[in-house]
Amino acid sequence: MRLTRKELLGGAAAGALGAAGIYELVDKLTDSPQRAELFERPAEQHLLAGMKVVEHEGVEVIEPPLHHQVVTAKLRVEPRRRDLLEAQGTLERALGDLESRYAITPAGLAVTAAWGLPYFRRFVPALADGHLPIDRRASESADRPTSALLGATRFPSDPGDTVLEDNDVVFLLRSDHRTNVADGARRLFESTAGMLELTSIRKGFQGGGFHGGPGLPKAMATAAGIQGAELIPDGAQLFLGFTSTQRHTQGQSRIANFETLGLVDVREGYFRGGTHMHLSHLFENVEAWYLDFDFRERVDTTFRPRLEAREGSQTLEQAPEDAVFQPDLEGDFRRFGTIGHSASIQPTSRLAMDIRGADGELYRKGNAIPQRADFNTLDNPFFWTADPDRDRQGEQPEAGLHFISFNPSSDDFRRNRLAMDGFLPDGKRLPVPNRSRAQGLNSVLRTTHRQNFLVPPRRHRSFPLAELL
Ligand code: HEM
Repeated sequence: MRLTRKELLGGAAAGALGAAGIYELVDKLTDSPQRAELFERPAEQHLLAGMKVVEHEGVEVIEPPLHHQVVTAKLRVEPRRRDLLEAQGTLERALGDLESRYAITPAGLAVTAAWGLPYFRRFVPALADGHLPIDRRASESADRPTSALLGATRFPSDPGDTVLEDNDVVFLLRSDHRTNVADGARRLFESTAGMLELTSIRKGFQGGGFHGGPGLPKAMATAAGIQGAELIPDGAQLFLGFTSTQRHTQGQSRIANFETLGLVDVREGYFRGGTHMHLSHLFENVEAWYLDFDFRERVDTTFRPRLEAREGSQTLEQAPEDAVFQPDLEGDFRRFGTIGHSASIQPTSRLAMDIRGADGELYRKGNAIPQRADFNTLDNPFFWTADPDRDRQGEQPEAGLHFISFNPSSDDFRRNRLAMDGFLPDGKRLPVPNRSRAQGLNSVLRTTHRQNFLVPPRRHRSFPLAELL
């Protein structure tokens, strides 16, 4: 049975915020993982306390929250000091209110507020020039000071109509409980009513099958009548059947903070404890993935050609000592003529040497840097949009991924994403045709939207820099 968009959606933006549509099914399909109650309040907005590490198929896996919601908006505030300070107070009270109700853990509710370049350019341009972090590595290669926050660009394997968005602000809400996300969204947007012009609402899920059962991707895809849903392995964390949050494929601790690796100059420190966030939406051709690629080919394409893997396994170890660097990748390409998704990215996403971080922690060679928070969705491409024509909003549910990655800078993310297309860190390019089978997962993916954001530290999350006006 395929559901129409009307069955999916309750009504206009406000209605859509709380409306569950097909996502209500999630609660009936899985129990939330047992987690310890912790009330830490990390200085970083992108880090959650109480994240659990479980063992799956003999590999340590970080168990992210089950539910995710992203809300993008433009500001309906005059670029005047008094108006901005008032708005800043209102938003900060709203976010503080949520923290007084929910622990900042998967069992509670974690909210991350991030700001786009349009906000800094329109509301605090001079202060932004003086305070936005500078990317040291990108400045060196460009031979001029380069900000850690840059406008998003289309990548070689992106279709020409990928929308580069220009939102002022985005809110990411995460929890194991859909009702916490719905309640948090409703409270946040009711108490900031009039200040924000919502542009999109995006919803989704991941996991839920590490302890048995079909898992959310399989169950939700089946409920929505997605082509190929029956081919998704039971228990898979994501539609494409492989676990992507093994402990070693995710950046540890504060590694993605601006200041930790020394890659970014936080200048007077206003944004110390902050990070960069890339947000994109991709459609996934689930049926083609399982019908055109056998298990061996799916492993080669997601990981690395000829990587050892037991037939039917979902979670493969990617330890620091196994990290792939450029010579290995070039060797693979010479031998097999193809690149794997993570092996192609690792020369840019893994540390090339041990580094003592600004936080005093020793980050070892081979450690991953990006912290990904991506989740599957049935949105087409969004749950709700203010501009259905521009966003080519569709009627039917479609399989996809809302991709979120926290990196030390826009350029650091750009290097990861270019590597996914065969562009190597030293500028060399492996001749893999765009979106061909030889180019990792790209042949079954289609990117529709992109934007970069700056995630301030928690102390400066509301209308950053406005108080300095
Ligand atoms: C539908 C799309 C995607 C799927 C299904 C997917 C799936 C995965 C999987 C299964 C892994 C774990 C592989 C491993 O353990 O080595 C992984 C790793 C990774 N993916 Fe993706 N991915 C997708 C899109 C992207 C995109 C758009 C990026 C952007 C750069 C990206 C960046 C990464 C990074 C940085 C890693 C970790 C690499 C490392 O081990 O250091 N992924 N992805």
